[in-house]
Amino acid sequence: MLVPWAVVVVAATAVSATSTPWSSLPIDLKDKTRTRTSRDVDSSALPDVDVLDNLFAALSDMQTTYFQNWIGTWPDAIDWTRAVMSTHVSAALRTISDEFELSQPGGGVVGYVLGKEEVVAGYFADIIGYYFAEDAFALRNQAYDDMLWVVLGWLEAIQFVDEHNDVFSNSASTAGLPSMLGTDAWYGNRWVPAFAHRARIFWELASKGWDTKLCGGGMVWNPRLTPYKNAVTNELYIAASIGMYLYFPGDSNTSPYVSNAASETAPCSPSPSPSPSPSGDSNSTNSQVWPARDPRFIVAAQEAHDWLTTSNMTNTAGLYVDGFHISGYTSGGNNTRCDERDEMVYTYNQGVLLSGLLGLYQAALRDGRSGENYLREGHTLIQNVIRATGFDLEHNRPTDPIVPNRVPPWRGLGRVGVLEEACDATGECSQDGQTFKGVWMHHFGTFCSLRALGSRSGSGFGSTSEAVRAQHEAECRRYIPWLRHNARAALGTKDDRGLFGMWWTAGLLGLRSTDSVEQAADAEPFPTSDDGNMVDYRNRGVPHNEIWMGIVDAVSEILPRGPSAKHGPARPQQKPLKGAGVNPGPDGSPSTTTSTRTESRSEPSGSGSQTQSSPWDPNLRGRGRTVETQGGGLAVLRALLVVSRLEV
Ligand SMILES: *[C@@H]1O[C@H](CO)[C@@H](O)[C@H](O)[C@H]1NC(C)=O
Ligand SMILES: *[C@@H]1O[C@H](CO)[C@@H](O)[C@H](O)[C@H]1NC(C)=O
Ligand SMILES: *[C@@H]1O[C@H](CO)[C@@H](O)[C@H](O)[C@H]1NC(C)=O
Repeated sequence: MLVPWAVVVVAATAVSATSTPWSSLPIDLKDKTRTRTSRDVDSSALPDVDVLDNLFAALSDMQTTYFQNWIGTWPDAIDWTRAVMSTHVSAALRTISDEFELSQPGGGVVGYVLGKEEVVAGYFADIIGYYFAEDAFALRNQAYDDMLWVVLGWLEAIQFVDEHNDVFSNSASTAGLPSMLGTDAWYGNRWVPAFAHRARIFWELASKGWDTKLCGGGMVWNPRLTPYKNAVTNELYIAASIGMYLYFPGDSNTSPYVSNAASETAPCSPSPSPSPSPSGDSNSTNSQVWPARDPRFIVAAQEAHDWLTTSNMTNTAGLYVDGFHISGYTSGGNNTRCDERDEMVYTYNQGVLLSGLLGLYQAALRDGRSGENYLREGHTLIQNVIRATGFDLEHNRPTDPIVPNRVPPWRGLGRVGVLEEACDATGECSQDGQTFKGVWMHHFGTFCSLRALGSRSGSGFGSTSEAVRAQHEAECRRYIPWLRHNARAALGTKDDRGLFGMWWTAGLLGLRSTDSVEQAADAEPFPTSDDGNMVDYRNRGVPHNEIWMGIVDAVSEILPRGPSAKHGPARPQQKPLKGAGVNPGPDGSPSTTTSTRTESRSEPSGSGSQTQSSPWDPNLRGRGRTVETQGGGLAVLRALLVVSRLEV
């Protein structure tokens, strides 16, 4: 594969020097080798997928538009979505760094190499900035899933540093560089202990959500609510635990707090001493208090996986529903079974598990066991998802025809082969909902990446047998046409500033009529916040009823929780953004103004406003384009890049 790196390097340097959005640069960055194949579904109206070019653009536009360097964060995101955004940036950097390696020219001109380094190091600086800006104190008091996104984010950063360090110090063309620069490792290595410490602290905090008194096990979602054991918290616990087992390098920092920041010693800080470490307590005077490869991580992951797979949490389409309540819990009954299922289906609940399954496979291999069953489970889930988007993998095409100005039927998790959230068509996705498809794509990309089975020499996990590898990669290759179809749809939502929208299907269909969209929204039995056994609490808020809120004091007796928990908020308040419709004004009152926040540079001008001159755009409804929807665009492109390498 030939990538025109010289051009990329020049352009990327220009980006960091001038902060010009990538997509506005008049440089042709077409990756000519990634042309369409005849197997692709026909979507001639859509942009060609020049994957690497578009990945750079999505990353650059995301950071230029939404990241504020002076405070080191994406101010319009919320804590958990920021953790996911940092994960997307680290993952994109892993991929870009890897692309450098794959495209090594074999020669090695120092200036050329340093130019490439500039691209990666520039965005890695944003990750370092975010390390300090992350509101670790607030996150400590949130739900268990919120904490686990933090763990995954820093484990992703650690993997990026490890891999980039390999590229930097081992590859042929840079071999002389470290000694020339008087160093033996890439500077990013100096941040690994900090990232590892943050990951370890949050894994320990979250692990308190594991509960065996109810449902025979499983993670509780939120210590402030009636016990609810949901898919995402359990999948996160599996993925984070096995990730800690595989990638956590150990932590000798005994600080009880995530950092010494004054905010962490605020009065409601939960505990004045470090969380006791079950396996390390008696050795707490050792310098390495929390070792790498601690068996409790793999035990936790396996136990959680065993519980999840026997929890009856998948529906007839083979998709994970949202979770379980315990019937009669608040009325004082003695039922302890997870028997009240919430049938709501979200994309991200089908995704996070995939990283966990890949990790369980890798860990099994390390320990000399066969882990093929984990890979098989992952492929089954992926195929169920693809089917539920309305896509026929046998024939590489959507199952429904594309009819102009008609929104095709909903197929369970999308339509005409495009992944979709139930809130997409109605334009009612919350900040949570806007993050979900990107989460799915991130974990899918990880599972099916060319690197998934450790193909790089020296970085494997035991050795995958050729038969298993061939089978796994053949399955993953089958998904590429579907993935490319989704990437094209997502690219079709970009506005003239290069910003991705939420509803990818609209990008495929080029919808310009409000009527067709309203018909579609009316045609589907979309859940509301009190539809009994199908509650879209992520987009519409947790219902204030007995099932969810219960009797708060009863919860406190059975579940571990922090002191501020009892009356604390169920979730951090999501941030209102201006949109086409009515949004809360700065004081919480309804307001139809679309430009109340001109002081915020992070809010792209014109976001959410429908001007008379431009055509109607369904992706301006609701929250409009946000850092979360941009993260989704970045994630689908990164997934396509890492999976489509299997074709080369
Ligand atoms: C403590 O350290 C000693 C010596 O390194 C080791 O033999 C022992 O197993 C450790 N104990 C625990 C609980 O980790
Ligand atoms: C699994 O859940 C479904 C939906 O709640 C229910 O109908 C079914 O009986 C459950 N199966 C088992 C074995 O509990
Ligand atoms: C508790 O369980 C027992 C037997 O399982 C049952 O007989 C009893 O009625 C239950 N109590 C309540 C309050 O549900």
